[in-house]
Amino acid sequence: MKTLPLAGLVLALLVPLPVVAAEKDPNTGLIMAEGWETVRNNCTACHSAGLVTQNSGSRNYWLNLIRWMQATQNLWQFDTATEKTILDYLSTQYGVKEGARREPLPRELMPENPYKADAKSS
Ligand code: HEC
Repeated sequence: MKTLPLAGLVLALLVPLPVVAAEKDPNTGLIMAEGWETVRNNCTACHSAGLVTQNSGSRNYWLNLIRWMQATQNLWQFDTATEKTILDYLSTQYGVKEGARREPLPRELMPENPYKADAKSS
């Protein structure tokens, strides 16, 4: 009897959250979530928004990308609030894809490297 509430909790956790279809701006394809207009205004002047929407990554990935464009592609500087809005939007709407790539196997689970010099039997 004691296990029943726990079983219910486990079941509740297994029920997937409903997937809400995000509305996209017909002109740019950007997901119309908080901050999207700021991103449209600042990120579609030099290249299509498609370059943004087909990419995804962590906040740090987006920040590095912005710094790279600022350093090499004449992207203007943002004030702190604008940059935060842009990074919040990108890392939320175009964040790290779940299951896009599995974690690497721990070293001890990897097979022996057959090309390693000392693995050769001659
Ligand atoms: C001043 C011009 C300019 C603006 C504004 C600009 N970018 Fe870029 N961006 C570039 C250039 C140039 C490239 C390289 C394009 C290419 O390789 O064809 C690039 C490339 C990219 C790429 C592709 C990177 C890759 O790995 O291939 C992404 C994603 C991107 N920009 C996102 C953004 C975001 C997000 C913003 C707004 C914060 C933005 N860009 C604003 C100039 C700009």
